[in-house]
Amino acid sequence: MPHTAVATALKALDAHARELARAHVREFFAQNPKRFENFSVSLDGLLFDFSKHKITRETLDLLVALAKARELPARRAALFAGEPVNNTEGRAAMHMGLRDLSGGPILVQGVDMRREIEAEREKMFAFARAIRQGQLTGASGLPFTDVVNIGIGGSDLGPAMAARALSPFGAGGPRAHFVANVDGADLADTLAPLDLSRTLFIVSSKTFTTQETMTNAASARARVVAALGEAAVRRHFAAVSTRLDKVAQFGIEPSRVFGFWDWVGGRYSMWSTIGLALAISIGPENFTGFLRGGHDIDMHFQEAPLDENIPALMGLLGVWHRNVLGRAAHAVIPYDQRLARFPAYLQQLDMESNGKSVTRDGAPVAAATAPIVFGEPGTNGQHAFFQLLHQGTDVTPIDFLLATEPVEADAHHHALLFANCLAQSEAFMRGRTLEEAKELLRKDGRDEAEIERLAPHKVFSGDRPSSTLLYRRLDPRALGRLVALYEHKVFVQSAIWDINPFDQWGVELGKELANRLAPIVEDKSAPTIALDGSTAGLIDWRRRHG
Ligand code: F6P
Repeated sequence: MPHTAVATALKALDAHARELARAHVREFFAQNPKRFENFSVSLDGLLFDFSKHKITRETLDLLVALAKARELPARRAALFAGEPVNNTEGRAAMHMGLRDLSGGPILVQGVDMRREIEAEREKMFAFARAIRQGQLTGASGLPFTDVVNIGIGGSDLGPAMAARALSPFGAGGPRAHFVANVDGADLADTLAPLDLSRTLFIVSSKTFTTQETMTNAASARARVVAALGEAAVRRHFAAVSTRLDKVAQFGIEPSRVFGFWDWVGGRYSMWSTIGLALAISIGPENFTGFLRGGHDIDMHFQEAPLDENIPALMGLLGVWHRNVLGRAAHAVIPYDQRLARFPAYLQQLDMESNGKSVTRDGAPVAAATAPIVFGEPGTNGQHAFFQLLHQGTDVTPIDFLLATEPVEADAHHHALLFANCLAQSEAFMRGRTLEEAKELLRKDGRDEAEIERLAPHKVFSGDRPSSTLLYRRLDPRALGRLVALYEHKVFVQSAIWDINPFDQWGVELGKELANRLAPIVEDKSAPTIALDGSTAGLIDWRRRHG
């Protein structure tokens, strides 16, 4: 690793940031009528506009120099070559192979996986078709109208987000529902309106040991047995996992068990059979469109020069804000109601991947890593937390996601949605000076004393950075592109920080402790003496008041 090159690149970025500190991005727009053309990249129908960040050509050059010093191109090549880039688990991270429809070899640690991948996908598609067409029915002979995916984290968030995003593409197929939380309310509320005799359950778990999923699966099984009898289980359950031995123990009919591989990380698994609920709800053709969108971005990420490479630019702009300017959060605001779960999905993708404090070699990281990711659809967010984004003391970079045409023709609503999104990004960029605020109040007929009193409250600093991703319409291919863009953005940042984005040891401790505490919580006579004072006190309180 060329440490001196990294240090030089970082030092140059710091010096450059100091030079830019006094400027306002407004001036950059005033000085350069071609700023939009200079700082945007398009890729058949997809546009990434990053002109509203206070950056110059030099900023980009310095960021690209940092990426090269961190050997991003070599790291990317190792990722796509199926090398064991997940070094703490000794695995590749070859989720791109799941969406590679090119016909060429898909190498994972030197083994061509194409046949296996295609066979498993075909099996999933055949099952999805049979459910959609009513050839496979419930125990009472009724076609399935509803599919309930039981899973959590990567076995839930991606497919749940996508099923909602692509709901208009169902063409009368079964509705998809998602149960994740071990809180029994999740299962109860999801099942309340459903007819069990027309409901298919999919137990989705890479490890098939996750406490929440196993608990919900057992409860769902008990419900089916109570309503339809033991024999109905084989007709009403399917499973997706890499641990086929454990699935067999649960008693799911082998023809309804769909596998995938340990080189597919949980938060990268929606492209695999973990997408079964999605494949059933939108059908195999649309699912293939989704895969195609992901593959489009894999090609772009590998081929485009770094300064025209959308995921590389997204990642590098994030590094600029996080490391050079010290910005701790990142907002993702889809102006697309059907992307309501996209921020939640991204939280796992970004924060579980890059929420790390040690490098690949186990040394403390030198710089801040993943930001806190949050978001809500626009326009709703405008009436909730945007006040802080406009006038709060912290600057939070924002990604706006927006379609140029609606999926359902409702031109008036969409025009308002579009205008709102652009109005926000313009306001964040431009802001309003004290003089402009005073002028507005003057026009409003206020007297000078009132103008002096109110004007400071109406000042917006502006210079608050945002990117806008425009796609034509939210169809399967566009969604596949969006998801893959963010996957690779996260990878780019992991390379800059020299961390492994494909493990998640941080989740383990909580899991271990939950398994240790569960029997103590359940058995009211179990001693709490060995626990810390707070944990013991809280359990005792529950025993007395619960
Ligand atoms: O939340 C931790 C985690 O390990 C995620 O990485 C994973 O997506 C989730 O649990 C679910 O795991 P599984 O699919 O094995 O049930």
